[in-house]
Amino acid sequence: MSYTPTKADKFTFGLWTIGYNGTDPFGGPTRAHLDTVEAVTRLAELGAYGVTFHDDDLFAFESTDAERQHEIDRLKGVLADTGLVLPMVTTNLFSHPVFKDGGFTSNDRDVRRFALRKVLRNVDLAAELGATTFVMWGGREGAEYDLSKNIRAALERYREAVNLLTEYVIDKGYDIKFAIEPKPNEPRGDILLPTVGNALAFIGSLEHPELVGVNPEVGHEQMAGLNFASSIAQALYHGKLFHIDLNGQRGIKYDQDLVFGHGDLYNAFALVDLLENGGPDGGQTYTGPRHFDYKPSRTEDINGVWDSAAANMRTYLILKDRAAAFRADPEVQQALSDAKVFELGDSTLAAGESYADLLADRSAYEDFDSASYFNGHGFGFVKLQQLVTEYLLGVR
Ligand code: GCO
Ligand code: MN
Ligand code: MN
Repeated sequence: MSYTPTKADKFTFGLWTIGYNGTDPFGGPTRAHLDTVEAVTRLAELGAYGVTFHDDDLFAFESTDAERQHEIDRLKGVLADTGLVLPMVTTNLFSHPVFKDGGFTSNDRDVRRFALRKVLRNVDLAAELGATTFVMWGGREGAEYDLSKNIRAALERYREAVNLLTEYVIDKGYDIKFAIEPKPNEPRGDILLPTVGNALAFIGSLEHPELVGVNPEVGHEQMAGLNFASSIAQALYHGKLFHIDLNGQRGIKYDQDLVFGHGDLYNAFALVDLLENGGPDGGQTYTGPRHFDYKPSRTEDINGVWDSAAANMRTYLILKDRAAAFRADPEVQQALSDAKVFELGDSTLAAGESYADLLADRSAYEDFDSASYFNGHGFGFVKLQQLVTEYLLGVR
């Protein structure tokens, strides 16, 4: 298999990813500004399928209408020249000082109204550019001090905002769905909707839940000590995986935004296997863009930026290849079967069986040999995990 990406692989990048200039809380930029046209052109050469952006990535917050339009036209031009698509757009509600206490959930009502207007303007732009997913990452929607934020009121304001946005796209006839991106903390001490599970529960409270899903990011679930592949499985189970942010994270610490696979490689393998082979027929569970939301490390110059962009795609394709080989191996299939992985797909009750039938079934309880589970009935999960390890290490 070739590990050279093509458009069919649907790899996309945020303009803010390769455009990250290395600034962190302790030091300024280590790289020069990367122009949009150069960024898109280079990504196309590397085999990407599309790009995404925040409004402020494309044109500065203070832009005049003419300046804004100029940048939009330049983006349109380079998309036409390269054939890259623009499947997702998002809004920056976190950089400017006005959003220091959030956008949709700032304690300041004027800020909330301004945030809604900024997003509505960007939804119009998303529709104009043909994007079908609108991501909402509420990095500043949160607090450092418990008593400074009424969480129930904040949820109600967030709900008010999302309800307004769904009403707007329906009225406008836009083919746009929203995807909420959870994160537990950073930049706020605690962020509202910290995990995929919190977001899924919130979506259930909305007026148009069918228009809202999640955009989980590898590192964000892992910052909360959670299993990303498992969170993705739950999002898929609820039909809510509208978009995905792929990157790498090593444990519970600040948001590293490393290259995909440069963190928990086992979980990256499980994730790619789930996305590519986890469907009911063994096919893809998720057909949308494979979107990389990473930051080229501050240590890198522009060559390192493009090396890291390519590394994301190459690692994904290697894992896809490894996962296919893993699935095709009869020994793996036997190990999966021995571990009763397939048996979990069988319903616990037989077709038409009632609780009365279960109560009458002596083999299920009275005659069931629970004692045999001591010193017996091992599941063989370790043997299975060793097979995963050997596929990851390339010795099988
Ligand atoms: C992060 C986030 C952001 C968002 C992006 C979309 O690393 O904390 O991933 O990068 O995805 O800003 O709004
Ligand atoms: Mn992140
Ligand atoms: Mn992200």
